[in-house]
Amino acid sequence: MKRCSQGQRLNNKDKGFSQSAYWDHLYNDLTPEDISIKEGENFYPFHYKPRQFFYLEDFFVTCIKGIHHKRIISIGGGIDKIGIYLAKRGNLVTMVEISDVAIHKTLILAKQMNVESNIQINKMDWQASNLHQHADVVIAHDVLHHMDWEKSIDNVFLALKEGGVYISVEPVCLLKCIKFLHKRFPFRSAPYLISQDVELSNKNIDYIRKKFSKVEVSYFDVFTRASVTYILYKLGFRKIIRFLSRMDFFLIRLLPFLKPFSSYVVIKAYK
Ligand SMILES: C[S@@+](CC[C@H](N)C(=O)[O-])C[C@H]1O[C@@H](n2cnc3c(N)ncnc32)[C@H](O)[C@@H]1O
Repeated sequence: MKRCSQGQRLNNKDKGFSQSAYWDHLYNDLTPEDISIKEGENFYPFHYKPRQFFYLEDFFVTCIKGIHHKRIISIGGGIDKIGIYLAKRGNLVTMVEISDVAIHKTLILAKQMNVESNIQINKMDWQASNLHQHADVVIAHDVLHHMDWEKSIDNVFLALKEGGVYISVEPVCLLKCIKFLHKRFPFRSAPYLISQDVELSNKNIDYIRKKFSKVEVSYFDVFTRASVTYILYKLGFRKIIRFLSRMDFFLIRLLPFLKPFSSYVVIKAYK
C-alpha cells in the first residue's frame, strides 16, 4: 500500500481512493488515548488537538444533539466519534469512508460503546456514492473540502429525503486578500497538507444556496485563526482559546461585515 509521511503533499493526480493511504497513515499513528470517547467532549478532529478548544466544535454539537431516531449518513467521519455519538442516540448511521484504518478503529469503538447494530460502514468514495433518498440527515465534519465540491454536494442532495438536512463544518477563504496571505504565510498548523485540501469560496457556498430550499451559514474564527490558536495552544493558554473563539463568534454576529474574514463555517442546508 502506498504510504506518505505526515506533512507530505500528495500531488494533484492523487484523487479519491489513493488519498486513503494518507489517511490510513494518519489514523495509524493515533494512540488509544487519542481515540477514546470522553463524556461531554466535543468532536474535534483527532489529528488536530487544538481544535478541541474551538467554540466552533461546541456549536457543532448543539446542531446535532437534538437528532434522535433518524437515518443518518456520516461522510468521511474518520474514526467516527460523531457517528458513534449519533448511533448512541438511537439513530441508524451509515458511514462512508475511504480509510481502512479509520473503518477498523471505528468498528472497535462501536463495539466498546455497544452501538454496532446501529451502524453500517461502507468503504466508498463519496464522490461515487449512489445513496438516493436515503437519509434524514447527512453529516460532513471537515471533509467535503477534500473532494470535488459540486459532485459531492450533488450526492448529498440526492442522498437526502425531502425535508432532510445537511450539516457540515468546512474551512473557508472568502476574500482574495486573505487567500493572498494564506498562500504566503503558514496559516494552518495541522500536520497535514494534501492537494485537495482547499478552503471553500463564496462560489462553493452559493452552489449550496442555489440547490437547497433553506440554507443557514454560521461564521467562525476571524481573529482566533488556526495559526493564532496553535500558538496559544503551544504556550499552554488552552482554556483561553475557547473563550476567545466564542467571543469571536458573537463579534461576527454583531458586526456582519466581519463574515468574509472568517476561517470556518457551519452550514445547515434543508432539502
Ligand atoms: C479531515 S478528515 C476529517 C475526519 C473527521 N470527519 C473529523 O473531522 O475528525 C477527512 C476524512 O475524509 C475521508 N475522506 C477523504 N476523501 C473521501 C472520499 N472521497 N470519500 C469518503 N471519505 C473521504 C478521509 O479518509 C478522512 O477520514
